[in-house]
Amino acid sequence: MAPANSPTPARILVVGGGGRENALAWALGRCPGVESVWVAPGNGGTLELEGIQQLAIAEGDQAGLLAACQERGIELVVVGPEAPLAAGLAGVLRGAGFPVFGPGADGAQLEASKQWAKGLMVEAGVPTAGYWHATSRAEALAVVEQQQQPLVVKADGLAAGKGVTVAETIAETQAAIEEVFSGRFGSAGASLVLEERMYGQEVSVFALTDGQTMVLLPPAQDHKRIGEGDTGPNTGGMGAYAPAPLLNADALEEVRHLVLEPILNGLRQRGIDYRGVIYAGLMLTSNGPRVIEFNCRFGDPECETLMPLLGPELAQVLLACATGNLAAAPALTIATTCSACVIAAAHGYPGTVRQGDVIEGSLATSDRLQLFHAGTQRGPDGLCRTSGGRVLAVVAQAENFDAAFEQAYAGLAAVTYAGITYRRDIGHQVRQR
Ligand code: AMP
Ligand code: GLY
Repeated sequence: MAPANSPTPARILVVGGGGRENALAWALGRCPGVESVWVAPGNGGTLELEGIQQLAIAEGDQAGLLAACQERGIELVVVGPEAPLAAGLAGVLRGAGFPVFGPGADGAQLEASKQWAKGLMVEAGVPTAGYWHATSRAEALAVVEQQQQPLVVKADGLAAGKGVTVAETIAETQAAIEEVFSGRFGSAGASLVLEERMYGQEVSVFALTDGQTMVLLPPAQDHKRIGEGDTGPNTGGMGAYAPAPLLNADALEEVRHLVLEPILNGLRQRGIDYRGVIYAGLMLTSNGPRVIEFNCRFGDPECETLMPLLGPELAQVLLACATGNLAAAPALTIATTCSACVIAAAHGYPGTVRQGDVIEGSLATSDRLQLFHAGTQRGPDGLCRTSGGRVLAVVAQAENFDAAFEQAYAGLAAVTYAGITYRRDIGHQVRQR
């Protein structure tokens, strides 16, 4: 390929403190030519990743992050979570001359406003559920009255994954509407979107883009419910696997043409130069793929699952997205092995979680077995403790999913803490054993 046209960033800053950001840092740190990777703020496991450094700067501290870029001569910033993207971090850093993988506040509306995203989908002809936007209780209840069927209720803004109710009955739809307008979601609940309910399997597709061209990653399937057999309340995601056979190569190309190219064109038509990842959450309905939602970031735990499959060109490719030169970047090598990710959560998750449980044991990681910390913190005593809902991600790769999940679960058995909570059936869709 043409490496001369596609430089490798020597010094990279990853913004965020979850399992996703540790996985990004780990994958970027493996790329030849990358000298230093910092994660801000990172978590209790960041320094356990070989060669990765940590900065105590919050993801919302734009001035602090800008100063860190200047002090360290950062050549690529990768922003993990949606909140700093929606707050405009990418624009601030780009304005000061730093290449950023992640959209500006304009592009982040794809995730930060359900109503804006739905409007763009309709305008761009992207297949999605029919919807109504309502700015008051009365307006929303009138839609239910008229439709006479249960609807999906979504707070308009960022509600940390908690703002969606898939109602089973009309009464539940009405209760969810009351809840949004009760102020429970703060400013995210100032208005809402009502949607027709869709049915089918869910799959996540990620497109890396420089605003013009895109590279698709293998489809991944998340497990949103806390309970085995996909029961109980929704979570941030309890595990994932990739590549998901739900979409074969032809079906992935169909998603590119039906969903990703139109949405990127739509963004451009609105004058938005989108540089980062577009995450399409799809439902595979009997009428073909439909978009449930777009996000402006990698999925978590999909990111932990996918990063080990990506080749040594990753740093170049992300920099090329950030600088608008993806066409000149080398092709991204993607392993065809099976990747399995299991999340260990804290006691009480997804409700109120207990924090401060000491994490014990250690895992001998390898090229095919990774441990990424998420909600953990290291104390002055050197001990690592739980500090959030999702605590650890163990990821393994093998020639088939049975072997990959066996190794991931065996890896998980090597670390523990009081109240450890995980599903034993992650990947049930693709496991024989
Ligand atoms: P979201 O926060 O938009 O990802 O929604 C959370 C979950 O709600 C999704 O993963 C789906 O399982 C479900 N969901 C959202 N919208 C719909 C819909 N229109 N029909 C059926 N399920 C939906
Ligand atoms: N794994 C789902 C999400 O990141 O939104």
